[in-house]
Amino acid sequence: MTKKIFSGVQPTGNLHLGNYLGAIKNFTKLQNDNKNNCIFCVVDLHSITVYQDPKLLKKNVRETAATFIACGIDPSKSIIFNQSSVPAHSEAAWILGCISRMGWLNRMTQFKEKAGKDKEKASIGLYVYPILMAADILLYDTTHVPVGNDQKQHLELCRDIAQKFNNDFDKKDFLKVPEPLIQENFSRIMSLKNGLNKMSKSDPSDASRINLTDTRDQIINKIKKAKTDNSFMPESIIELKNRPEINNLIEIYSSFTDEDLEKSLKNLSGKSFSDLKNLISEILVEEIEPIGKKINELLKDKDYLDNILLEGSVKANNIADKKVQEIKKIIGLT
Ligand code: AMP
Ligand code: TRP
Repeated sequence: MTKKIFSGVQPTGNLHLGNYLGAIKNFTKLQNDNKNNCIFCVVDLHSITVYQDPKLLKKNVRETAATFIACGIDPSKSIIFNQSSVPAHSEAAWILGCISRMGWLNRMTQFKEKAGKDKEKASIGLYVYPILMAADILLYDTTHVPVGNDQKQHLELCRDIAQKFNNDFDKKDFLKVPEPLIQENFSRIMSLKNGLNKMSKSDPSDASRINLTDTRDQIINKIKKAKTDNSFMPESIIELKNRPEINNLIEIYSSFTDEDLEKSLKNLSGKSFSDLKNLISEILVEEIEPIGKKINELLKDKDYLDNILLEGSVKANNIADKKVQEIKKIIGLT
């Protein structure tokens, strides 16, 4: 079966190892299985749900596109575009917002986390963010959505919206109900400074994450300083699960060695944490440093990147505009 793959990444700078292992690396794998049709979107409208400096936004959009390409996404095989260049996303989001229920949105944990204590001051955009995400996905008849674990709840909401639309307007299967593609391991890479927090672009401490543009020395230093604990290398998975920082490091290690955690624990048995850190640094320098170099090289050619985004948006517009016209017809607007 041809899978229709869609995913999005926000252009908020500092793309990191969590984005890579949780999402972008998987995008490349899916693309390289030639049976799939892939669309990867730089979701600039999602990013403005919190204030973005207008002077940096376009630069960050280019940087995200450059990161996609540097990680192996090939614009001649996959569509790469930015969300705001396809108006159907905003139009469909309004219509789907009229299908969605407040009760559904009130359950979204990402909103609660991002809005923090003072919910009244959060933007309306942040609250309805998952509806725009549903529009992104549903406009392309997407069958599969590769994302990190933090997006699971948003995808469930997207499925609910699609089903309610199909039911309300008696159009069985019109909006395709997508499947999440969430990897079992590595779907939640944690901060190098605190194993209970997700590795995140917005963490004020740069040492908490490996950025995809970090140099060799930065990678080595950050891994050297990553938090561990005072005990020895764990012997079992059960032991590992109670030690968040070590669990995170071993997950990072095994994601690159393509082993399951059990096999990694066996290989690491008797080794010290500094041995483990050396192994991780070596692997990261080998895989991440070339990506960073490629990103910087691509960023020198703005016209090339703008052109990729433009070509992608023409293709995306063709698909999305047709779907939104059908939606409008179904609900009686045209
Ligand atoms: P964002 O940067 O929030 O737009 O996220 C882009 C993609 O990276 C999404 O699929 C996220 O689920 C994924 N992602 C972000 N942070 C992490 C993390 N720490 N571990 C695993 N996946 C992540
Ligand atoms: N909300 C996603 C995130 O922050 C990004 C996103 C927007 C997305 N639209 C999407 C992911 C559609 C998958 C499909 O990570």
